[in-house]
Amino acid sequence: MRIGPAGRVAGTLQAPPDKSVSHRALLLAAMGSGETQLRNVLRAADVASTLAAVVALGAEVTDREGSGPGVELFVRGVGLRGAAVPTVPIDVGNAGTLMRLLPGWLAGQPGGTWTLDGDESIRRRPVDRIAEPLRRMGARIECRDGRLPPVQVEGTELRAIEYELPVASAQVKSCVLLAALTADGQTTLVEPTRTRDHTERMLVAAGADIESREGRITLRPADELRLDEVAVPGVISSSAFPIVAATILPRSVLRLEGVGVNPTRIGLLRVLERMGGRVEIQDRRMVGYEPVAEIEVLHAELEATTVEAEEVPLLIDELPLVALLGVFAEGTTVVAGAAELRHKESDRITTVVEGLLALGAEIEARPDGFAVEGTGGLAGGTIDAAGDHRLAMLGAVAGLASRDGVEVVGADAAEVSYPAFFGDLASVTFE
Ligand code: S3P
Repeated sequence: MRIGPAGRVAGTLQAPPDKSVSHRALLLAAMGSGETQLRNVLRAADVASTLAAVVALGAEVTDREGSGPGVELFVRGVGLRGAAVPTVPIDVGNAGTLMRLLPGWLAGQPGGTWTLDGDESIRRRPVDRIAEPLRRMGARIECRDGRLPPVQVEGTELRAIEYELPVASAQVKSCVLLAALTADGQTTLVEPTRTRDHTERMLVAAGADIESREGRITLRPADELRLDEVAVPGVISSSAFPIVAATILPRSVLRLEGVGVNPTRIGLLRVLERMGGRVEIQDRRMVGYEPVAEIEVLHAELEATTVEAEEVPLLIDELPLVALLGVFAEGTTVVAGAAELRHKESDRITTVVEGLLALGAEIEARPDGFAVEGTGGLAGGTIDAAGDHRLAMLGAVAGLASRDGVEVVGADAAEVSYPAFFGDLASVTFE
């Protein structure tokens, strides 16, 4: 895919449905007793993996074209302890969230053994981070070389634990919370830094006995979950690409509608504000259990900033875009405390740095992040998405702001989270 230089972006885009919330909605609905109506579920490769997984585990799913960008699903759950045992491994595809959350549910179901496997990228991403707390709960879990997929989970009775998360990871937190639902007492989790709280919000709605205060989450086991409906909000992580395009292209005026503005997700907007970005959040309201709003973005002259560890989880998936913003900001922009980037769909410190270097940026990798010089422009060239959806979309936005255009190799990786991305971007791009 070749993305030529553009003059400006202008117009309105509807935010695509949130991938994190779509995964959780399908999983909790499958774990529930009774039927759950899911609205505006993301139609993308990652969520298709979760849908196939819950069907393999016995949930009944029917779908209807939704009124918004997403799809409407009805899911009849199998109950907390009723997962079927398929004869073939569960294929999580590229979906890290599915790989990390699902073992939490399965670990507490005696009588079954499940194998989870996925694509080449998944097979490089660590799962010891979930195996460790699950084993403390008594779970029987095996992984390749002690830390990589495939993962085998043999269901058993679980004990409640008190656990301080060694990494700030919403995936690990969510995995332990799902396991704690079937444990023998109250589980307590302590987060080193706040991470996205979609699981907690949905568990409250499903009737779980869960409390969260100042980074300390307690959950008592449940007999059943009941979730009547979930409406999936639009997602900042996908909208972030056009937001950054509008910020760096002169004369841009862009409106994003229905964007999730959960405080644990909008770190990018805070960072943009600090850099001098012109972003306004309007018309806040609730969609399901999540706040959403319209976001208006104008082009802005930017100043460099530093993003540090405690802020990182609030914009973990948007950090590649901070590198691009840094190119257009005055001074040196630094991202630190973000070694977790090495465990994403690609090693995002390496792929972002090598990708932007090839386009003419002055950017340097560090063990826990990167530093980028505000040189004010990019020549262009070729960027390899390395099988990573966010790299493919980063390359496209860089192309719009480049002098000669950018060739994105492996652009179809965008299908994983934002299948309409190239069409949406083209619809707001002008000479
Ligand atoms: C996710 C949490 C984040 C994020 C990932 C989705 C989730 O991972 O990077 O894209 O749905 O919980 P970690 O919580 O492991 O950092």
